[in-house]
Amino acid sequence: MASSNDLAPFQGPYFKQLLRSQRLRAPRMTTDVGGQTGIIIGGNGGVALDSVHILLRYGISRLILTVRNPQKFEPTIASLRKSYPSSAIDVWVLDLQSYSSIEAFVDRCKTLDRIDFVNISAGIILPNFIINEATRHEVVFQVNYLSTVYLALLLLPVLRERHPPKKPSILTMVSSGLAYVAAFPEQKAPNLFAAFDDPKNWSTSFGGDRYSTAKLMLLMFLVKVKDYANPDEVVVNVTDPGFMRAVGLDQHMPLIARFFVWLLRVAIGRSAEDGAMTFVDATVVKGKESHGSFLYNWKIAPFPASMYQSEGRSLIDKVWDETLHELEFARPQDILNAVKGKTT
Ligand SMILES: NC(=O)c1ccc[n+]([C@@H]2O[C@H](COP(=O)([O-])OP(=O)(O)OC[C@H]3O[C@@H](n4cnc5c(N)ncnc54)[C@H](OP(=O)(O)O)[C@@H]3O)[C@@H](O)[C@H]2O)c1
Repeated sequence: MASSNDLAPFQGPYFKQLLRSQRLRAPRMTTDVGGQTGIIIGGNGGVALDSVHILLRYGISRLILTVRNPQKFEPTIASLRKSYPSSAIDVWVLDLQSYSSIEAFVDRCKTLDRIDFVNISAGIILPNFIINEATRHEVVFQVNYLSTVYLALLLLPVLRERHPPKKPSILTMVSSGLAYVAAFPEQKAPNLFAAFDDPKNWSTSFGGDRYSTAKLMLLMFLVKVKDYANPDEVVVNVTDPGFMRAVGLDQHMPLIARFFVWLLRVAIGRSAEDGAMTFVDATVVKGKESHGSFLYNWKIAPFPASMYQSEGRSLIDKVWDETLHELEFARPQDILNAVKGKTT
């Protein structure tokens, strides 16, 4: 099966494609998830929690959901445990705004014998420029890109050691269809990450392109990282849930913006079940064939057109180099080489 890299570039116009996508329905779930252990990052709400319901309904053996505030999640978890008594459901703490929280979480993953999949679903849209105190980076960039890929990097060797018998572990990162229209206005800056952290580059219209840029960068990271993982051991893919009817992602936006986005969500939003099935599809239905690919509408889809062009390929290299440089404290190249089986 062709990967995203081998497909013809995405053809717009985006809005027409979006409307077409929103009318599609998810394929029926036929995969047996009995015996599987899965981890869902940001599992306390939104699309991730909807996917939790599907996986439990289909009899997954163990689910670990990460949350920032376990106390707030207690009533939901109690009701899930009551409804699905034959599945083990654990709640672990993870805050993507803290590298030490990410590292503690990854250490805890090492206590597991088997990990079938990890879905990094957590994401955020903010209307205002905010610097994350712990890392000194702008928060939308931090959560949607930098911390997501840091977590993914640290998880690679852990999953490699804990994939199920005769099957790879699946590591899914969650992007957005907006990656197809991301303008990436900072791309000409000598240092991308410094540009993201400069308030002058923050658009007053709800951060402008920052969220879409971060989601595009996940695809750029994917095309590089895929070459280090052996898809017989760890499959890395990226998915998009579609434009959802649920409003969780809009919670920080000003009321008036929330109202207009709500109207659009009511008009064309994807149902909870169909959106959640994109997560289930990426993590338990698709396998080795999805390695290094973008899953859109439950199918392997092309990358944004710019990623096939020489300028876009240089930008991919720049994003990759700056990412490894930024995460140098964790010796990312050593991690990648070890995952690839190379000695440094
Ligand atoms: N909804 C859509 O239309 C849509 C479209 C395309 C892509 N997506 C993507 O799909 C994913 C899920 O979106 P959603 O609609 O389900 O959003 P949501 O309802 O807002 O849920 C987002 C989740 O991310 C968690 N989160 C935010 N910041 C975090 C941090 N620093 N550390 C750990 N967790 C954090 C939230 O936890 P708290 O409850 O603690 O804040 C929440 O559980 C996101 O990556 C989003 O970008 C959504």
